Amino acid sequence: MKLSRPHGGVLINRQIVGIERERLIESCRTMPQLHLSARESSDLELIANGAYSPLEGFLDAADYRSVLTDMRLANGVAWPLPITLSVTDEEAGAFKEGENVALHHKGRLIGVLHLSEKYGYDKQREAELVYRTTDHAHPGVHALYQQGKLLLGGRISVLDRPHEFTFPEYRLDPLETRALFKERGWRRVVAFQTRNPVHRAHEYIQKCALEIADGLLLHPLVGETKSDDIPAEVRIRSYETILKHYYPASRTILAVLPAAMRYAGPREAVFHALIRKNYGCSHFIVGRDHAGVGNYYGSYDAHHIFDEFDVEELGLTPLFFDHTFYCRSCGAMASNKTCPHDTTAHVTLSGTRVRELLEAGQLPPIEFSRPEVAQVLIDAQGV
Ligand code: ADX
Repeated sequence: MKLSRPHGGVLINRQIVGIERERLIESCRTMPQLHLSARESSDLELIANGAYSPLEGFLDAADYRSVLTDMRLANGVAWPLPITLSVTDEEAGAFKEGENVALHHKGRLIGVLHLSEKYGYDKQREAELVYRTTDHAHPGVHALYQQGKLLLGGRISVLDRPHEFTFPEYRLDPLETRALFKERGWRRVVAFQTRNPVHRAHEYIQKCALEIADGLLLHPLVGETKSDDIPAEVRIRSYETILKHYYPASRTILAVLPAAMRYAGPREAVFHALIRKNYGCSHFIVGRDHAGVGNYYGSYDAHHIFDEFDVEELGLTPLFFDHTFYCRSCGAMASNKTCPHDTTAHVTLSGTRVRELLEAGQLPPIEFSRPEVAQVLIDAQGV
C-alpha cells in the first residue's frame, strides 16, 4: 500500500545533525549574521522537514521569476508561491554570493543559508501576480511591502528548529504523518487546512470528504496570522473539544502546520494542497474562498485555479466544496449544490454577528456551531 509520493519525487531533509551540525555551529561564528522574521523562520522549518519539497532553500532569481509568471519552478515543477528571504540595502553588503550566512530567530542561531544569489525584485509586480492586488490593506501585500529590497537565494541547512516549543504534541513532520498513515493502513488520506475555530460547515465538509477516504488529517495552520484572527491556542482547543465529542478517533489525526498565512487566496490553495501531499495526503479540501481575505477573491477562484494544472503534476486530488450551511427545510447541513430551498431557510451568520453573540456570553445557534466549541470561544475571551 503506497502513499502519495512527495512533490518532485523526493522528501527533502535539510536538518543537519551530529558532528556535521557541531562543525557548522562552530563555523557560524565567523559568518555574517541575519535575523529572520516569523514568516521566514516558519519557511525555513518547513523547507528543512520536507513540507516544502522539492525546495531545498529560498528561491533564486530564475525560480522566483518562473513562480511569478508560470506558477512553476524553472524546472517546470508546479509551485505557486515565492518562498523568499529578503534583506535591506544596508544589510545586503555583508552577504557575498558563494558564501554562508548564519540565520537567527528570536536570538537563537537556527541555521545557515548557502547563498547562491542576491537579486533585486519588483514588489508591485509580485503583489499583482501573486495576490491579484497591489492594495496595501491586503495583509499579504502589506507584509510584502515591508520586506527588504533585495532577496537572498540558496539552499539552507537547519541546526535547530525555530518553533519547536509550541504544540509539541501536535507537531508532526511529513515523515511522521506518513509513518502514522502507514501504521493505520490508510492510503487515501484527506487533508483539511484551516486558520479558524471549527464550525459546523467545516465539520460537514470534513466528514463528507472522510466518506470517500480512509482517514482525515486535520491540519490547522499555526504560523503567523493577521492580528484579528483567533489565536492558534484557542483554535487548537476548539479542535480538541470537537474531536472528543463528534469525531471517530480511529479515522482522524490532528496535527499542526507551522506555516505563516499569506492570504493569497487561489495561489495559496494550490500551495496548501502541495504541502499536504508532502505530508502523505492524497486528497485536499478546498471550500469557499479558501485562504481569502476581505473581498479580494471570488468565492470560487481557489477552485478555478486548479484548472491551470494537470492532474499528474499536482499528484493529489482537490475536493471542491460549495458554500455550506444548515438548512432548516432540509433539516440538515447542505450546500448551494445540494439544497433547493430559499436562503431564508439557511442558517448563516456573519463573523461580526458571531463575535457579538460570543462577547455577550451567548452560544450561537447549534446549527452554526457545536455548543462545546462555542463555549471554548466564550471562555477564551476572559483570558
Ligand atoms: S482558510 O484561510 O484556512 O481557508 P478557514 O479556516 O475559514 O480559512 O477555512 C478552511 C477551509 O474551509 C477552506 O477550504 C475554506 O474554503 C473552507 N470553508 C470555510 N467555511 C466554509 C463554508 N461555509 N462553506 C464551504 N467551505 C468553507
